[in-house]
Amino acid sequence: TQDPLVVFTPSGKRGRVPAGTPVLDAARRLGVDLDSVCGGRGICSKCQVAPAYGTFSKHGVTAAPDALSEWNAVEARYDAKRGLKPGRRLGCQARVMGDVVIDVPPESQVHRQVVRKSATLRAIEMDPATRLHLIEVAEPDMHEPAGDLQRVAAALAAQWDIPEITCDVSLLAKLQPALRKGGWQATVAVHSPHSGATPRLLEIWPGLHEGGLYGLAVDLGSTTVAAHLTDLDTGEVKASSGIMNPQIRFGEDLMSRVSYAMMNPGGAAEMTATVREAIDTLATAIAGEAGIDPALIVETVFVCNPVMHHLLLGVDPVELGQAPFALATSDSLELEARDLGLGAINPRARAYVLPCIAGHVGADAAAVALSEEPWRAEELTLIVDVGTNAEILLGDTSRVLACSSPTGPAFEGAQIAAGQRAAPGAIEAVRIDPETKEPRVRVIGCDLWSDEPGFAEAVGPGGVTGICGSGIIEAVAELRMAGLMDESGLIGSAAQTGSPRCVSDGRTQAYVLHDASAEGGPRIMVTQGDIRAIQLAKSALYAGARLLMDQRGVDRVDRVVLAGAFGAHISPRHAMVLGMIPDVPLDKVTSAGNAAGTGARIALLNRAARAEIERRVREIVKVETAIEPRFQEHFVAANAIPHAVDPFPELAA
Ligand code: FES
Repeated sequence: TQDPLVVFTPSGKRGRVPAGTPVLDAARRLGVDLDSVCGGRGICSKCQVAPAYGTFSKHGVTAAPDALSEWNAVEARYDAKRGLKPGRRLGCQARVMGDVVIDVPPESQVHRQVVRKSATLRAIEMDPATRLHLIEVAEPDMHEPAGDLQRVAAALAAQWDIPEITCDVSLLAKLQPALRKGGWQATVAVHSPHSGATPRLLEIWPGLHEGGLYGLAVDLGSTTVAAHLTDLDTGEVKASSGIMNPQIRFGEDLMSRVSYAMMNPGGAAEMTATVREAIDTLATAIAGEAGIDPALIVETVFVCNPVMHHLLLGVDPVELGQAPFALATSDSLELEARDLGLGAINPRARAYVLPCIAGHVGADAAAVALSEEPWRAEELTLIVDVGTNAEILLGDTSRVLACSSPTGPAFEGAQIAAGQRAAPGAIEAVRIDPETKEPRVRVIGCDLWSDEPGFAEAVGPGGVTGICGSGIIEAVAELRMAGLMDESGLIGSAAQTGSPRCVSDGRTQAYVLHDASAEGGPRIMVTQGDIRAIQLAKSALYAGARLLMDQRGVDRVDRVVLAGAFGAHISPRHAMVLGMIPDVPLDKVTSAGNAAGTGARIALLNRAARAEIERRVREIVKVETAIEPRFQEHFVAANAIPHAVDPFPELAA
């Protein structure tokens, strides 16, 4: 008689194995992705499978109810203690006795896909650098004088095929008590960042560790620091949190922080200490929020612009303030998290810093690229990450170019008279009636427009407090569309426009967007200065994009992706009316959400992604806006709204 035929789903991998083979062994033999932490001891339950019985003509299998062996004592004990879901078996205990179809549920797959938010619904394949392994360690023997660590290493080699390990001296102190407490059974966390590296023992627990293992993806921006606490087993984000970058007190934007470092001896070190402390505080807070012991955070990934990158690493950013903008290192870094001053998490936690693309295009842009993968785009795609600096990528399958452009903080509501950060009470959307020239606004935290009944009550006692980045973009674009402002950005007077909302301070005009002064509230205006600030920002952004288009030899792109938390809130139509982005059909403008954060999370969960971005970054064509004479030309032409020379046919349509 023939050996039984096993078909695994969803992979479709199949083959014959001798009767009596454990399902876990069959899976390994057939190259099926089935997880195991305890190495088949029937205690971790990672190997759960769902066998199916009946006739499966698609697979050419008829599986009798006894195609798998009956429960053995180990499986029965597991079920009694923890309870197996109906229909589930432990793959390491159940043996193949006859033809059978076996489903491997997603949570039992080592390389399972986890969903991620993005414009293009891609998944992240789980392949983290740190994994848990249960080991059975030989007891010490007077006649075999090997140390405990050497016997742990021997167990990893024999039971998990990990031939060699290194171990931090700080872990030695934990090794002996853990092994004895666990009766020579222990779970170890092994970090192995890539195939060439010697795996490293990060942590040890007596017996089976079931408390999980976590990583922190950190998006270190000049204004905010955001972190995502992620489960390294499931890929699930357990908590996300952000704080203001406390370096703001040394300068609002990057260049003022570089000058602070130049002018003040010890200034760079001061900024390094400040930001490291903030990250540490954030790590503690986010672990607390998720109810997780910070010592279970064993990996961190950082994405940041070049100045933040240098300050995080403790490198004076002075070279980044002047041509030729030399980075101390552009390569990715794999180091100890404690070398970055992280003391709140596991003392042996690792840190990975994504590579920088160029002196002005940092690891944050690399993370956006990793998230959006322009090298896979069939259409020529322009990706813009809007922040204090705009990171811009243009490319498709043939070539990808990158630059950054100094937009300044106007898009974030800074440098705007009534500007504020995106928070409840901030105007986020604006419409101006082209006939009556009357505005209506919507604020964050309230679904009603200001001309709808119940608006005041819905906004609450705080009232309308100011304008955030997306609000000011809409306001300026609406002023243009309503004919209240000319192409050069000048607001007309009340006499010219016929609108009493156009007011003058004697020198310049302003437009009253929201007036709550009768109720003792603020009078929120868009001033001529605001419009200038937005013009400078949008010209810088457009000029950067245009420079990349020149290099690529095109005057149109097929698709625009707006990345960044702010990008998610910009109305594509208003951005185009303003001339922030080149002309494309509106349905070709999409938002990618926080792509830099997503890129950090991908690098945290998938080792191959790290290798991929390291390789891609070398291939990306870098364009330096600061020394490119055409940048200035494009900048000046982009000052008009939408543009002095470039056509915007989609707007006319
Ligand atoms: Fe751990 Fe089966 S491999 S329970």
